[in-house]
Amino acid sequence: MKRSGWRLAPYRLALVLAVLTLALPTITAMAATGDAARGEQLFTGSQAMSNGGAPCIGCHALAGLGSAGTASYGPDLSALYADYEAEGVAAVLESLAFPSMEAIYANRPLTDSERLDLTAFFAQSAEQQAPAAKSLAGLILLGVIIVFAIVGITGLRRFKGARRPLVEQANKQRGVKA
Ligand code: HEC
Repeated sequence: MKRSGWRLAPYRLALVLAVLTLALPTITAMAATGDAARGEQLFTGSQAMSNGGAPCIGCHALAGLGSAGTASYGPDLSALYADYEAEGVAAVLESLAFPSMEAIYANRPLTDSERLDLTAFFAQSAEQQAPAAKSLAGLILLGVIIVFAIVGITGLRRFKGARRPLVEQANKQRGVKA
């Protein structure tokens, strides 16, 4: 019964892939459990950074913050999340090692929770800017369907390829017996 195992294997693989694809966004969402509201307060300075770092809004513009968010000493951060994704933003916030910011933050680093909160805030503001990004879920689903289709077709072909000679052989044997 080895052969039936072979036939099932691609489907099992597809199932595992499908589960992983569906679970991954949930896992990443769970990993970044920052508080976006608190992130906004840290960004705008309505809540002070624990280690005394300056609020980002002093130098950076961000869409959605009205005229308060139009500082232009540093680059506009509206597209930050879209450009860097969660890991990239986390890495940037880890060191803030840009020439103009290093002097401020080298001795006043953001805490882990401040980084998470700011990341959540950047994610939220990116979402508000581009609600169309929600179609990502649709894209993932499409990917899963395509994987199933490919596996289904190749699996079927393999099944036929193995089966035909066996049927012919069986018929031949039957013919010999009769
Ligand atoms: C004193 C002004 C100042 C403050 C305060 C400041 N930045 Fe900056 N930031 C800059 C400047 C200027 C640059 C451009 C690179 C450079 O000249 O160092 C920059 C660059 C960046 C970049 C890179 C942008 C890109 O497109 O590559 C990020 C991300 C960033 N800052 C995030 C922050 C965050 C988050 C905060 C708040 C925790 C913050 N900055 C606070 C001045 C500042």
